[in-house]
Amino acid sequence: MEILIRNTPEAGAKLGANIVSKIIQTRDKPVLGLATGATPLRMYKELIKMHQSNQLSFRDCITFNLDEYKGLPPENKHSYHFYMMSNFFDHTDIDTKNVHLPNGFANDLRESCRKYEKLIHDAGGIDLQVLGIGTNGHIGFNEPTGSFASRTWVKILSKQTIKDNSTYFETPEEVPQHVVTMGIATIMESKHCLLIANGAKKADAIRKMIEGPLSASCPASILQMHPRVTIVLDEEASYLLTFKDHYKWVEKNKLDWQLY
Ligand code: PGA
Repeated sequence: MEILIRNTPEAGAKLGANIVSKIIQTRDKPVLGLATGATPLRMYKELIKMHQSNQLSFRDCITFNLDEYKGLPPENKHSYHFYMMSNFFDHTDIDTKNVHLPNGFANDLRESCRKYEKLIHDAGGIDLQVLGIGTNGHIGFNEPTGSFASRTWVKILSKQTIKDNSTYFETPEEVPQHVVTMGIATIMESKHCLLIANGAKKADAIRKMIEGPLSASCPASILQMHPRVTIVLDEEASYLLTFKDHYKWVEKNKLDWQLY
């Protein structure tokens, strides 16, 4: 795992945006896996800025989002489709026919999930998967004790995640309990994973992910088995790491070709 610690979430967002931009500029048809939630918002803003100053085009990008609430149509303001359009895609030159999210509103969810996996496969797989992490260690909406071998499918949210996500709804009862999410196995097939986390409330999950044993009780710990993972943290999210000084030392002493 490559662990990069920055003083502030803003600095982490710039770094994340540079990593995404490098992938876009070095591929003919870049395939991006994207995330929602509070964490990637700053990075999306940085990417929009790069686009508006003519440094970056999303014209050739194909995107696949991690997850979507079940039962919310795309036009619902709480849907992740709505989030992606309003916070990112609407401000870029991406061709919306290349934008994909799991369909939480499909009549035949089994068929729709199977098709989602096939679309990712047919696009050549995901070049860079952007991830956040839940306070309980989830990635996508793969909650603790779920299978490491799971693929895109309907999952039930944990009480913790419903509580965490209720800030976006008027009442906790409004948070859908079911979601459609890429599985852990789907995420693990991405060529490169970029996980961003900020704030002290993520510190325990971050410690378990990086330094804890591989365990389904912290789904993100499976990333220890991925050949190419970049983790961007602010100081607060990294404060429980036992080997924090070592990670900083490693970054400082990296060879040029490894630096972004
Ligand atoms: P957050 O969510 O970015 O809103 O903290 C991250 C996640 O649940 O994966």
